[in-house]
Order: sequence, then C-alpha cells, then structure tokens
Amino acid sequence: MPRSSSDPLSSALSVICHERGELHDLLCAYQRRDPAARSRLEIFLLYPGVHAVLMHRVSHWLWRHGFRFLARLHSQIARHMTGIEIHPGAQIGKRFVIDHGMGIVIGETAQIGNDCMIYHGVTLGGTGKGHGKRHPTLKNHVMVGCGAAVLGPVTVGCYSRVAAQAVVLHDVPNYATVAGVPAKVVRSVRDNDEMAHSSASLRDDCDCGK
Ligand SMILES: CC(C)(COP(=O)(O)OP(=O)(O)OC[C@H]1O[C@@H](n2cnc3c(N)ncnc32)[C@H](O)[C@@H]1OP(=O)(O)O)[C@@H](O)C(=O)NCCC(=O)NCCS
Repeated sequence: MPRSSSDPLSSALSVICHERGELHDLLCAYQRRDPAARSRLEIFLLYPGVHAVLMHRVSHWLWRHGFRFLARLHSQIARHMTGIEIHPGAQIGKRFVIDHGMGIVIGETAQIGNDCMIYHGVTLGGTGKGHGKRHPTLKNHVMVGCGAAVLGPVTVGCYSRVAAQAVVLHDVPNYATVAGVPAKVVRSVRDNDEMAHSSASLRDDCDCGK
C-alpha cells in the first residue's frame, strides 16, 4: 500500500530530503566529483560529508521550528560524529559536497547555494565584529579549497573558486578564482575563454542561488 505523505516515516524523510530524489542527487554529486568514490552505497555509508548534511537537515528543521536547544544538541552530536560543525541556522542548498570532511565550521547565518563543494579545513565564519548576518554567502557552483577561510557577510559569486588556504574578506565576483591572504582575484572570466563562452547559458543558474 502506498505510504501517505502524512505518515510519520514520510514526514521524517521529508525533513531529511525535501524533495523526492534529493538524496540520490546528493550521492550522485559525490560520485561525479570524487574519482575515488566507487558506489553510492559506499558514499552513503562512509562519507562524513553526507552524514553531516543529512544530520544538518534535522537540526535545521528543529531550529526553524523553535527547538533551539535540541537543534544545537543535535548539531553537536553531528560534529562529534563527523568532525564537521554546521550551525543549525545555516542554510544549505542541494547537492552540497564536503570532500574529506573534517575540521569544517559553517556559521549560523551562512548561506550556501546549490552544487557547491568544499574541502577539509574550510571555515565559513564571522570576523567577530558583526551581529545579524555575519557569515558568508556562497552562490551556486562555488568551490572552496582546503584550509580556506571565508569571513564576514561576504558573497562568493557563482562558479567561483576559492584556492586552498586563501582568506577571503571581500566579495568575490562570479566566475572568478581567488587566492592568497588576503584573497585576490588570480583568474576571472575574461581569462578563461571556455568559461566565457558557456557563461551566457550558465547565467540563469547564478540567479537562483541563495
Ligand atoms: C584555485 C585552484 C582551484 C586552481 O584554480 P585555477 O583557476 O585553475 O588557477 P591556476 O591553477 O591557473 O592558478 C592561477 C594562479 O593562482 C595561483 N594559485 C593557485 N592556487 C593557489 C593557492 N592555493 N594559493 C596561492 N596561489 C594559488 C597559481 O600559482 C597561479 O598563479 P600565477 O598565475 O602567478 O602562476 C586550485 O589551485 C586550488 O586551490 N584548488 C583547491 C583544491 C583542494 O583544496 N584540494 C584538496 C584535495 S584533498
């Protein structure tokens, strides 16, 4: 008998995966991006990034529904299990890949668009100065390399890449690569013909990021 959308199991699943096929898409994203990944089952069972994102769905739901302490408790349990600290208030888009997840911090007001990827040691944090929106926004298709810190309410434009170990303190335009401390643009769409040619078709994708 088909399960009604209001039964407890369906409700619980809809907290973790908002849409049908979202978990499948997440596992496929890992498979696409990680040449070492052999099967979706292996990814589901062994990848801490997957566990952290799925557990964040639960803590984010608790946070949004006013269960603030339970949300923090749940996110701390997730942190102990995975080495990845995602504040329950953070907003995370679809197919978010965390490769080699460990030592990652994602702050309360961080917003991450669809199809983003980060590596181990990334901080999406505050500068310690602001209140309110004080953590970064990553638009769609952003990559943040290992050990990089993106600090403050800055926006990293879509299809942009933050090099490993960079410290980003200012907004990053779309289609740019930034590197260094403090991070500077080392490559932009003008330097990359292939990206420039495809940018028109990609532009729609930039608009829908959070
Ligand atoms: C930034 C990155 C994506 C390369 O992007 P790219 O657009 O292809 O850029 P390039 O490799 O052509 O480098 C452009 C310039 O930035 C410099 N650069 C690249 N990565 C850098 C880094 N992490 N720190 C400082 N400078 C860096 C290059 O030396 C080059 O400088 P030059 O023009 O003076 O020679 C890549 O270097 C990177 O950091 N990837 C992160 C991957 C990662 O974290 N892997 C962990 C796996 S476990």
